[in-house]
Amino acid sequence: MLRLEDAGAGVAEGADPAFLVDVLAGLAQERKAIPARWFYDRRGSELFEDITRLPEYYPTRVETALLSERCEEVGRIVGAGRAVVEFGSGSSLKTPRLLSCVSAAAYVPIDISGDFLRDSAAGLAEKFPGLAVLPVEANFMQPVTLPLAVKTLPKLGFFPGSTIGNLVPRSGVNLLRDMIATLGIGSTLLIGMDRVKDPDVLIRAYDDAAGVTAAFNLNLLHRINRELGADIPVEGFSHRAVWNETWSRIEMHLVANRALSFTIAGRSFALAAGETIHTENSHKYSPRSARQLLAAGGWTPLREWSDADGMFSLILAEARPEPSAP
Ligand code: AVJ
Repeated sequence: MLRLEDAGAGVAEGADPAFLVDVLAGLAQERKAIPARWFYDRRGSELFEDITRLPEYYPTRVETALLSERCEEVGRIVGAGRAVVEFGSGSSLKTPRLLSCVSAAAYVPIDISGDFLRDSAAGLAEKFPGLAVLPVEANFMQPVTLPLAVKTLPKLGFFPGSTIGNLVPRSGVNLLRDMIATLGIGSTLLIGMDRVKDPDVLIRAYDDAAGVTAAFNLNLLHRINRELGADIPVEGFSHRAVWNETWSRIEMHLVANRALSFTIAGRSFALAAGETIHTENSHKYSPRSARQLLAAGGWTPLREWSDADGMFSLILAEARPEPSAP
């Protein structure tokens, strides 16, 4: 059992105790791993925005184009006056177009990072004077209590970016079920899901020539040093992106270039040369596996859209479990 009070040495004031718990537990495992959600401190969020502009990183460009092309159609299907609830809104770059197409009555961005949340909520409120913008600072990996003001409104969940792909299927299903708990039966969800494709294209998207994704991955180690009183020799690690065919996912790892040892909050860790810390999964879906994941979480697909090359898909689903027997 990890006890926070035993592990305080050098931890920065204001550091998230859950970060320390996840890092200590993750590095104590036989196969070392740290959950991907800890990438997104301020620097990590900036680096991710740089990633979205890379020539190799197609998901953001393809999804944004799909949203533009299909947004009026989404508006016709879901109707006006919904509360749009965005899970992990970050800087809400994709949201304005959706809000105008669905004539939203309210916008509820949910994000764990309060800084980004407040900045982008303020920006959107300015852009849409009639819209109630009600940010909620919360971890959307659990059911979230929505503001009272949207309680009686019909809901449209928005979960772009293929963020669901960070989760193994079991956790993805849990999240989809929690979304129903948050939004209610009868709600709709617009979700972006990245497609399976040529592994070389996928690997280039996660190991770009300019090294931005490498910097994004390595920033996790800098963050541990900054926030958790650690002395990890960051230059001893390198970035690796691999395609895992069995699980249909890109994995990111931090590889130890030589035998390494360091301390975090007063505890000692060691990695052998070539040993890795697994930092991210990014699952890729076929049209069928996407539908199956949604259905397992209680969501019935209503419409699906993809670009001409089948790079990325947008799915509109309804919280209405399929009947369990014919
Ligand atoms: C924000 C989780 C969708 O998995 O593609 C980008 C994060 N990691 N490059 C993804 C990411 C490396 C991204 N998601």
